[in-house]
Amino acid sequence: MDEATLRTARAGHLGSGDIGTEVRVAGWVATRRDHGGVLFVDLREASGVVQVVINPEEQPDLVDLSHALRDEFCISVLGSVRERPEGTVNPDLATGEIEISATEITVLSPAAPLPFQIDDRSDVDEVRRLEYRYLDLRRPRMAANLLARSRAVGAMRSTLADEGFLEIETPTLVKSTPEGARDFLVPSRLRQGSFYALPQSPQLFKQLLMIGGVERYYQIARCYRDEDFRSDRQVEFTQLDIEGAFWGQDQVFDALEPVIGAVAKALRDLDLGTPFPRMTYADAMARYGTDKPDIRFGMELVDLSEVFAATGFKAFSGVLQGDGLVAGINGGGLGLSRAGLDGLVDRAQALGAKGLVWMVVEDGGTLRSPVAKFLSEAEQAGITERLSAEVGDTLLIVADSVALTRAVLGALRNELGQPEGHDELRFLWVTDFPVFELVGEGRLVSAHHPFTAPVDVVEMEERPETAVSRAYDLVLNGTELGSGSERIHDPETQARVFKVLGISDEEAESRFGWFMRGLQYGTPPHAGFAVGIDRFIAILQNEPNIREVIPFPKTQTGFDPLTRSPGPVDDPQLEELGIDLRPGVRAALEDEETPE
Ligand code: AMO
Ligand code: AMP
Repeated sequence: MDEATLRTARAGHLGSGDIGTEVRVAGWVATRRDHGGVLFVDLREASGVVQVVINPEEQPDLVDLSHALRDEFCISVLGSVRERPEGTVNPDLATGEIEISATEITVLSPAAPLPFQIDDRSDVDEVRRLEYRYLDLRRPRMAANLLARSRAVGAMRSTLADEGFLEIETPTLVKSTPEGARDFLVPSRLRQGSFYALPQSPQLFKQLLMIGGVERYYQIARCYRDEDFRSDRQVEFTQLDIEGAFWGQDQVFDALEPVIGAVAKALRDLDLGTPFPRMTYADAMARYGTDKPDIRFGMELVDLSEVFAATGFKAFSGVLQGDGLVAGINGGGLGLSRAGLDGLVDRAQALGAKGLVWMVVEDGGTLRSPVAKFLSEAEQAGITERLSAEVGDTLLIVADSVALTRAVLGALRNELGQPEGHDELRFLWVTDFPVFELVGEGRLVSAHHPFTAPVDVVEMEERPETAVSRAYDLVLNGTELGSGSERIHDPETQARVFKVLGISDEEAESRFGWFMRGLQYGTPPHAGFAVGIDRFIAILQNEPNIREVIPFPKTQTGFDPLTRSPGPVDDPQLEELGIDLRPGVRAALEDEETPE
């Protein structure tokens, strides 16, 4: 078959300039409407939609066939382009001024009855959409997302090529490299009992490329992390990964801003102001209660500890005596009922706070609050002043440990102030992250990853809880879009970081010896970054989650309803790999219904 015999024109490109010509178009039946015997078919293909008219009086021999047409049949239509009759022009459609009067219709492929309606209005269960993803992708919204993704990656590639970067692939069957998540393992047949890991990121390979003399590397890299799902996480996702030799933080920002700008231009026709603003991690935590502040709105956290330094209100004085923090936000004119205000208290408690003090500024400036009677006039005046409170404003105050007060107020701030959607784009570099964070019972883990350079190695060893690193994030509208750091480039510092992390010399040797050896051979100082492409496209396309911009994503539980994966494998396959299922696992597998 030849395209010319199937179509001579693209449906979405037809317009009044084509009136009077004969064309052949091919595509899918998007809708059919029978208006008193005259059949209207919207024919959809990648370029758009055009209306086809089948008039039984003009084309009696098309009647039977046209009645057999069903939604999503794949057809080819020969006909003449004509102006639509007056009053039937559709201004919402690019081809809305014309229609094709059909003279010949060929069914290229019929379609079975559909599992769901293919239009952007119908609200279909997501598992069902994923099970029939190929139909879901015919929806204009999904088609637009695929197109946007392709354009975005194209803009990244061309900008980076202009900046002199090499696109280099790194392996996906690797030795495990820690990014903080669990590895996916792949059993080896030739070395039974040994496993490859799928890369959580190309981190160590890109560092080896720097040692290898590649000075500017990038890759559109698939990463695999066996981690818990959220709306902005998948087990398999894509990064724009970059690294540069002889670089520090500023070179990373300078290289990336034009790339981010080119994508925003391609998808939103926006000219982003550069350089993007910067804020330290410490400032972000103090002012927004989070390391990914949404700076599209104010409502900043205000430290009220001084106002309450001598307070008689026990909930506050107790916290302040114990090194805690009393802070508040001005939520503005929320206009909440008593029940609404109590709802905020419940919300704060669900977030871990012991309580939440609310105050509403009344006419004349008095504060209405269940705790007003416990606060002195000077304290009330101090609150009003520090929070720039005006009549009608709702003020919210939390007293707790520094971390909890910030976390609760930061979350309330987002819930009360965050604009819907992503029309406005506010980028922010957050810099000077800590080297470590404390998890569980005082265990230190890398805040970024263990290959990140501490600002001061001695400080890192002596005060690991507060030591600052050369790591930075890019934040867009309150979402972490990407992360990076200046790297350790000498084996001694690397060994000292492993030591503080509690990784023994033997363990460091068995897990990273191959990498540490590389660091010994004249490693240039280097730095880099990785942008989460799925997150970036989802925001630019105004999608609520990254699954909408991934062609074939998995569900929230890591299951692919289309191929029904992961699934069991045959015994001979396991035998070849030297793997025995434990009896309990085998029994559970045999009992199991299909997972969702
Ligand atoms: P990091 O682990 O912070 O850094 O990842 C960088 C960015 O990748 C995206 N991302 C994800 N997107 C979807 N699903 C996931 N499960 C997921 N996990 C991460 C985020 C994140 O900001 N090697 C380092 C980068 C470097 O230091 O150069 C790294 O991978 O947008
Ligand atoms: P209580 O003395 O526990 O009855 O609390 C009096 C008021 O103070 C209630 O409205 C509580 O929600 C609030 N409250 C109690 N503890 C805190 C706290 N740590 N931070 C903010 N508000 C609190």
